Amino acid sequence: MTSFREILIATEDALVEANIYCGHGFDSAHDEAVALVLAAANLSLTETGSEILDESFPNEAESTLEQYVQRRCQDREPTAYIVGEAYFGPLSFICDRRALVPRSPIAELVEKGFDPWLTSASPEVIVDVCCGGGSLGLLANAVFPEALVVLSDLDRSALSLAADNRQLHDASVGLIRGDLLSWLADESTDVILANPPYVDAEDMAALPPEYLHEPQLALDGGADGLDLVHSLLIDAERTLKQGGIMILEVGNSLEALDAISAHLSPVWVELAYGGHGVAILTKTDLSIWRGMTDNLGSRVGV
Ligand SMILES: C[S@@+](CC[C@H](N)C(=O)[O-])C[C@H]1O[C@@H](n2cnc3c(N)ncnc32)[C@H](O)[C@@H]1O
Repeated sequence: MTSFREILIATEDALVEANIYCGHGFDSAHDEAVALVLAAANLSLTETGSEILDESFPNEAESTLEQYVQRRCQDREPTAYIVGEAYFGPLSFICDRRALVPRSPIAELVEKGFDPWLTSASPEVIVDVCCGGGSLGLLANAVFPEALVVLSDLDRSALSLAADNRQLHDASVGLIRGDLLSWLADESTDVILANPPYVDAEDMAALPPEYLHEPQLALDGGADGLDLVHSLLIDAERTLKQGGIMILEVGNSLEALDAISAHLSPVWVELAYGGHGVAILTKTDLSIWRGMTDNLGSRVGV
């Protein structure tokens, strides 16, 4: 008999030897090995404890695990795509190549109910723009079940995964295919969750191979990473209610966002669970920025 413990050690060794890159929801080769071994044996990651370690690993799961390890080590596929599932905050989601593997650090702010950033205690309308598989919006729906939550993306494949996840969680959220916030009414929204593609050209050229399995539309943010962010800022100002906020993730493109204008003042959030480049922009901040930009534009005749 080969125990789960032995199989786990061998799998972790293989992942370490292959020098896998952990950037897709797992912090270590050990955690990825646990996910692969349990999935191969058809066991749940959240419901299986360490008591299994000395049990026998099922013979029939061995070839499945072999294929999983090959896909992870040779093909460099993210573990979440291989096992078809991603854990995000307290929830799990169906995860496949239709959308980015969920990992946004915005989750931390959603779980904290947007405290201390939102003045109203209970938002009525929350929009997850660039929703991918819908993880942020569905998490928001779990925290604020009374709110109207809308998930939106341009990509039909991503939206079909969001629809599957909506069904998985039996959630009453809206789904809209649209270009950024162009479809959203003026002064309608309390919270915009925005994790757009924001990888700049330099980082795109240096991405570890794991990221090449994800849709390019989900990552590529153009030369400085902010191709879509300019429109988002303008439309967030238009669509947020007074007192509303946009939580915007731009990752490594945070310096480019700071450099947009002296009149735009994103507040960078300190994230307790890791990550960086998450900004809070209030309706008021955005209105001041728009006002200054319009003034400058009219003074120089543009
Ligand atoms: C970084 S992914 C974020 C996915 C999801 N929010 C998450 O955190 O996992 C960016 C998403 O933006 C979508 N996207 C790209 N361009 C868009 C556009 N012009 N309008 C709306 N969505 C767009 C992509 O299809 C992709 O799903």
